[in-house]
Amino acid sequence: MASTTTLLSWGLLSYRDAYAASGQLGNAIKAVKWATDYFIKCHVAPNELYGQVGDFNLDHKFWGRPEDLNMTRPSYKIDAEHPGSDLAGETAAALAAASLAFRASADAFDAAVTSDGTGAPVTDARTYADLCLTHAKQLYHFASTYRGLYHEAIKGAAQYYESTDYGDELTWAAAWLFKATNDTTYLDEAEHHYMKFRLKERPNEFFYNKKVAGVQVILAQLTGRSEYIDAAQAFCDFSADFQKRTPRGLIYIDKFGTLCHAANVAFVCLQAAKLGISHGKYENFARQQIHYMLGDSGRSYVVGFGKNPPRQPHHAASSCPDRPSSCGWEAFSRRGANPQVLRGALVSGPDENDYYEDQREEYVYNEVTLDYNAGFQSAVAGLRQLRLNAEDGAKPNKARGSEETRPELRRGADVRIATVLPTLRRSRRGRSQGNQS
Ligand SMILES: *[C@@H]1O[C@H](CO)[C@@H](O)[C@H](O)[C@H]1NC(C)=O
Ligand SMILES: *[C@@H]1O[C@H](CO)[C@@H](O)[C@H](O)[C@H]1NC(C)=O
Repeated sequence: MASTTTLLSWGLLSYRDAYAASGQLGNAIKAVKWATDYFIKCHVAPNELYGQVGDFNLDHKFWGRPEDLNMTRPSYKIDAEHPGSDLAGETAAALAAASLAFRASADAFDAAVTSDGTGAPVTDARTYADLCLTHAKQLYHFASTYRGLYHEAIKGAAQYYESTDYGDELTWAAAWLFKATNDTTYLDEAEHHYMKFRLKERPNEFFYNKKVAGVQVILAQLTGRSEYIDAAQAFCDFSADFQKRTPRGLIYIDKFGTLCHAANVAFVCLQAAKLGISHGKYENFARQQIHYMLGDSGRSYVVGFGKNPPRQPHHAASSCPDRPSSCGWEAFSRRGANPQVLRGALVSGPDENDYYEDQREEYVYNEVTLDYNAGFQSAVAGLRQLRLNAEDGAKPNKARGSEETRPELRRGADVRIATVLPTLRRSRRGRSQGNQS
């Protein structure tokens, strides 16, 4: 969830105008704040962070609405004796990135948060951003001082969301803290971690358990140094030119979250394009990947959007009938569309041959998760931003960019930037993939 929040915050910070132009700025801020409120509650002492609520074995016996959960829900934490540098590091990165995003949209934050009517204490953007940053600094210090993998501390986590390293999260956290504070101690530490954990090699992917591509791009943005720029370029060139593809052109990295992987790469390469490296090439690459998901592949993979969208996402709450009808396993096995439309959710996606089944039971094709949506969300916002920039550049008499002349590109750029963060929840079953770190 922290990794999801960092990606959403990065997109919100970079593409604020796109969110504003689509009327989604307030929703995006609330979606990120929903997560930061949760992290702040979980961070009960400087060196204590709750990282899991619930027991997987009990939770997975249940299919239904989250508000109907009534099994025992134990909670698990990391602390100085049972450290988790990956979990604390990513949570620090998320809170630092969110603090920047909130500060940059202070007026919209104040309007969105004072009007949300949840009874939560009302705060203003500056006070809340300061609070996020205080927690981020403490969590980074905790992550850096007490080293370890969180899944050794938290029962059951290894089975579902194993973490393989923490060097990337420590570097990522330090880089985001430098960006949020301008305190060069953090940049020195980020560069030190980068060397020490040997992060310069070209990664194959960018996702919650492998942040290296993001680390390379953000260090390139922060320092302008050729070492990081070259690394970012190597990753995006590899992804655009040599990564395995499906026959219809989707890059193919893993069968779990095929679309998430492609969208994450699209987003990080849009960030690389902002540096001016091969920007036309990376923008076209990102546009092509995202448009595949929105309909260019022959169908939409986004619930509630476009042509022939998924109707049976593997998502418990949206499979339930309206209240007061009860909901349970019969909703899982029932034929037909989910009664509730989980608008904006990106499903896991097709296999390496573009083959896909819209069946609720088929979680390999049809699961939805928080981390599946995050990079996609930010990439869509990035494409909308490029279109806005092109429109600005075209005023008053300049020639219009290619996006304006190609109808199939226009269609994708019109997608509403729906923020679905608070409505998604982890669905049942285990896999070594998810959104915990
Ligand atoms: C909650 O627990 C009780 C038994 O303790 C059970 O009868 C009930 O069906 C459960 N679910 C809901 C939604 O109340
Ligand atoms: C950091 O410094 C840069 C350059 O002076 C400035 O643009 C930026 O706003 C500063 N950021 C913070 C968080 O103070």
